[in-house]
Amino acid sequence: LFAQACDFLLGVVSMKQLPPMDLPEVAFAGRSNVGKSSLVNALTGRKTLARTSNTPGRTKELNYFRLGPHTESGEGPALYLVDLPGYGYARETKTRVEAWTDLVMSYLQGRANLQRVILLIDSRHGVKPNDREVMSLLDKAAVSYLAVLTKADKLKPSELKKVVEATAAELKKHPAAHPEVIATSSVTKEGIAELRAHITALVPD
Ligand code: GTP
Ligand code: MG
Repeated sequence: LFAQACDFLLGVVSMKQLPPMDLPEVAFAGRSNVGKSSLVNALTGRKTLARTSNTPGRTKELNYFRLGPHTESGEGPALYLVDLPGYGYARETKTRVEAWTDLVMSYLQGRANLQRVILLIDSRHGVKPNDREVMSLLDKAAVSYLAVLTKADKLKPSELKKVVEATAAELKKHPAAHPEVIATSSVTKEGIAELRAHITALVPD
């Protein structure tokens, strides 16, 4: 699946702009600056597909990417990857943040073809209170999610191991959480093949 082409489809700013639910989809959620857009690029092997930035709050829309054969009639599986705006970023005006949050919340709770949320956690910070809020929301909506640690290159192996264990322990409290934790780095590509395999397994061929 990940050997196939991946193209930007559209940026969504309101629920009515969402594309038809004709393909399964996987969404990337997490705090601002956690590395969502970088991870989409690492997974698809495209350096500049999703826009990344040092400035938290870079991604302001639900960005849809279509992964799979180029044409509708092409053979083989396809899916949408959805790069979500981040949460927990306070510098924007409050109404703006709330508007994104409302859109993301409605999206996460009402998208029938959403196969899995990839919930990104910065390995340097571990699970934060707003991550727990999102986990509880996904538990309530019965949307299954996978915790993925980002920026693993920033930690020593022994430190990373501790964060993986603490995160796994946290997930036990959450019914919709997949039990596994994948540590990744968009820089060294650690964990990328494993995450590709996880996502590929969600798509019927
Ligand atoms: P928002 O769209 O603002 O919510 O951010 P985002 O979660 O999409 O983060 P983005 O991918 O834009 O990355 C934020 C910053 O973290 C950028 O400066 C990236 O270069 C950096 N970054 C992302 N992934 C990694 C990683 O695996 N390792 C390191 N060292 N830096 C990373
Ligand atoms: Mg982004």
